[in-house]
Amino acid sequence: KPSAKISPSILSADFADLGKDAVRMWDYGAEWLHVDCMDGHFVPNLTIGPPVVASLRKRTKAFLDCHMMVSDPAFWVEEYGKIGVDGFCFHLESVAQVPPSQEDFGKLKSLCEMIKDNGMRAGVAIKPGTPAESVEPLVDFGMVEMVLCMTVEPGFGGQSFKPEVMPKVKYLREKYPELDIQVDGGIGPKTIDIAAEAGANVIVAGSAVFLAEDPKLVVTQLRKSVES
Ligand code: DX5
Ligand code: ZN
Repeated sequence: KPSAKISPSILSADFADLGKDAVRMWDYGAEWLHVDCMDGHFVPNLTIGPPVVASLRKRTKAFLDCHMMVSDPAFWVEEYGKIGVDGFCFHLESVAQVPPSQEDFGKLKSLCEMIKDNGMRAGVAIKPGTPAESVEPLVDFGMVEMVLCMTVEPGFGGQSFKPEVMPKVKYLREKYPELDIQVDGGIGPKTIDIAAEAGANVIVAGSAVFLAEDPKLVVTQLRKSVES
């Protein structure tokens, strides 16, 4: 599988001290930074938008991995591109029916093209209940470079990992050996081995990193598990 990327979720950081937390994650060896952007519509929570993402961009060299939990991802693409975000990962369910209709594929294709035209990598996220088959055409036609398999219902940090999502990760890994497969939700030293074994290589962890006594050790442990 592709190289491991550890992406601490800034959602569990101290929002009054985001710059400091972003910098220390890079120092701990995390090459990605996961930014959960929620609009209060797609999910019942409201978090970070362009002004804050722009401030984060100025503080860190990390790959800014924006997880867009918003109802209208296309609306944000240009602005995030201008800010210098690296990865723009939208939710399939925000753009399409499940499974997507023929018309939906047209919309998905233009959204992914727009993301790339604005200088970002495109990713698609699916909720725990959304089948892998719904995103296969997006991978097959090279529309996305990453699939995010949510291992909790999106909206909040600190929830429990859903092992029932692992068959989906396994299925995608078997079919796409080179694909970046991200897992997000309830990942920490206790659950990482299951996710890594299923084939995930891009690892998001919020509370497990930020609430740890030794966050650096957790980042190291996560990486070791994915690389072994
Ligand atoms: C939840 C977010 C996650 C969240 C994960 O909607 O997408 O990125 O921060 O937090 P933990 O790792 O605490 O489950
Ligand atoms: Zn997330």
